[in-house]
Amino acid sequence: MDKQIGLSPMAGYTDEVMRQLSLECGADFVFSEMISVEGVLRGSGKTDEIIPSAPTRIQLFGSCVSRMAKAAARLNGIATWIDINAGCPVRKVTRRGAGSALLRTPEKIAEMIVALKETVDIPVSVKIRLGIENIETEEIIYPILKAKPKAVFIHGRTVSQGYSGAANWEEIERITQILHSEGILSYGSGDMYSPEAIARALRQYSVDGVVVARGAIGNPWIFRQARDLIEFGSYDNLTLPERLNYFLIHFGRLAEAVGEEQAVRDLRKSFAGYTRNIRHASNLRSEYMKCNSLSEVKELFRNYIPERQLSKY
Ligand SMILES: Cc1cc2nc3c(=O)[nH]c(=O)nc-3n(C[C@H](O)[C@H](O)[C@H](O)COP(=O)(O)O)c2cc1C
Repeated sequence: MDKQIGLSPMAGYTDEVMRQLSLECGADFVFSEMISVEGVLRGSGKTDEIIPSAPTRIQLFGSCVSRMAKAAARLNGIATWIDINAGCPVRKVTRRGAGSALLRTPEKIAEMIVALKETVDIPVSVKIRLGIENIETEEIIYPILKAKPKAVFIHGRTVSQGYSGAANWEEIERITQILHSEGILSYGSGDMYSPEAIARALRQYSVDGVVVARGAIGNPWIFRQARDLIEFGSYDNLTLPERLNYFLIHFGRLAEAVGEEQAVRDLRKSFAGYTRNIRHASNLRSEYMKCNSLSEVKELFRNYIPERQLSKY
């Protein structure tokens, strides 16, 4: 199997549109954002909105073994893979014993994996961090090995690091060796911001793949660029018109789902990505923040690229 480059779960980002764009741009696999077990079971409106409608890999967060299995059963036919979130540091999640709070009781993670494997006929994995305060990955991983998940996704930071500081890839490598000795796949996560970083991680470490998170926001073509770099030694950079047209495709698809005004607002957080590394783009970015409709967005874009280069959206 070739080493894989996937889209990491990201709450508030990895919706149907971002997943689809990432696949079209060469991602080997994509994940939903984390979905609440309780929300799935209660049929909460907020959760219903983010449950994928087409088959894809789904990440669940929850703290009760049997309820997690029950939620997975409900997602039968939609989930092609279930991943357990054992890395989320957000208090709203951890104070209920879910997300990274599970790292305190890896035996429970193992029970969840076993229960899920007994319930669904698709691969089951877990996404962990290196520890809570300190690096304790080995203590976390040993109980999990016995449950034989298909894969472990390792975010190379502790919970107290949050999302800052460099990810510790040497530790990811050490744990990967342990996972491989048990026939379990290992995927690394952390600082996959550029095609170069992805190519380096895949070359340097024995992981079966990497998952890209922040580096894919407003930058879905990173998957194809990384693949080109690995296979051909170089990749093409996108021009501003190409980037803005990708943005318009993203916009158009999101607008179909949530309406135009909502799409303009939702994409404020991704727009910086679409214009990253473009010279003189800071004006464009600040002007975008003032737009409230597609016509205003297109009007703005016309100041930067010729009309004939704008896509139909
Ligand atoms: C806005 C945001 C939302 C995230 N949501 C999730 C999530 O729902 N589930 C999860 O396992 N990780 C989540 N993560 C963590 C990422 O998947 C990834 O492991 C982490 O950001 C490290 O990768 P990076 O340094 O390349 O961004 C999130 C990260 C960010 C920045």
